[in-house]
Amino acid sequence: MLNGKYGKATQKSMEILTTLGEIFNAECMVDVSSVQIAGVSYDNLDEAGLEFLNEMAEDGKVRVLTTLNPAGMDRENWQALGIKEDFAINQNRVIDAYAKMGIITTCSCTPYLIGNLPNYGQHIAWAESSAVCFSNSVIGAKTNREGGPSALSAALTGKTPKYGYHLDENRHGQVIFRVNSLVKGTDEFGVLGKIIGDKLIELGKNIPYITGVPSASVEELKSFCASIATYGGTALFHMEGITPEFNKYPKPSNIIIEINKKDLEKTRVELTDDDIEIDFVSIGCPHASIHEIAHIADLLKDKKVKKEFWITTARPTKKIADEAGYSKIIENAGAKFAADTCCVVAPIKARFKGIMVDSAKACYYGRAKNKFKVKIGSIEKCIEEATK
Ligand code: F3S
Repeated sequence: MLNGKYGKATQKSMEILTTLGEIFNAECMVDVSSVQIAGVSYDNLDEAGLEFLNEMAEDGKVRVLTTLNPAGMDRENWQALGIKEDFAINQNRVIDAYAKMGIITTCSCTPYLIGNLPNYGQHIAWAESSAVCFSNSVIGAKTNREGGPSALSAALTGKTPKYGYHLDENRHGQVIFRVNSLVKGTDEFGVLGKIIGDKLIELGKNIPYITGVPSASVEELKSFCASIATYGGTALFHMEGITPEFNKYPKPSNIIIEINKKDLEKTRVELTDDDIEIDFVSIGCPHASIHEIAHIADLLKDKKVKKEFWITTARPTKKIADEAGYSKIIENAGAKFAADTCCVVAPIKARFKGIMVDSAKACYYGRAKNKFKVKIGSIEKCIEEATK
């Protein structure tokens, strides 16, 4: 691949991967079975990023199953979400470049919910931070947190350098967090993720070993992953009795951090701004599952929303919702689906004053990127706010 025998894009990709491998002292390359690429919204990529993609698309073709992270708009319904035409044209140029390389242009941060689902122990190369954390921790697949170019390079070569989380010796828990209060709901798991993430940064540690969580749904875990990856840069955690590798390595013994009810309450307060005037509600960070959409439909039955209300999800999930009749109930209530995109990557900076979400990650980026005031609450509270 390095000598150009398989074409220019493959050569360039292998140059990127070998350079990375040298930087991180990787002993060899490893085959990957799945790739997920971030760097899809034109809002983040701009012309420079698009130029790189077009160059790779000249002769590059993927060698493994590859999907994309959310784009800057719903590809079918962008007008209804207030996206401008020139942005839509440029966003489609990005997607076309990916499609030319054989990438499945489903844009989602929850690829594991829609068929890009690796198995336990498989090596993969994923880029979206919440999905990286989910795949390493909840599935037990092995990936580093890839950047856009390194994930694309893995897709075009089927390889990634073997370092970091691809090696068992780097997957041990480092610090115990003991949760002494019952945690329930996507919002509360997000709050817990922020507490642990913040503390990991303070301690300079990467991999928490969490005890005291008796059960967690897929939706709660995806929210937790998004939050702990945002606040702690965490790509892997172990949760006793829940995640598959929790007893594979020796349990850390030197530091134990207690998390009590008052810590959860205090952090929840930190995730809500004072004097917030909510004019936007969004559920689906990370992208909503069909289970969550069914629940939203149930809560919205015979109601009307009074504020801009987005449900962000993957297009295949939206199609299931259409078939099941959930979309009709939700849209009759006046809420909007924003498939392929989300309230963070869409170009909506400062369009709203205050956003209510059930996601601690969306709170972070709602403030930092989109300049909204933010409020966190359960899905039920979000619906209550939207219909008030
Ligand atoms: Fe996904 Fe957007 Fe949240 S990419 S994790 S819905 S910020």
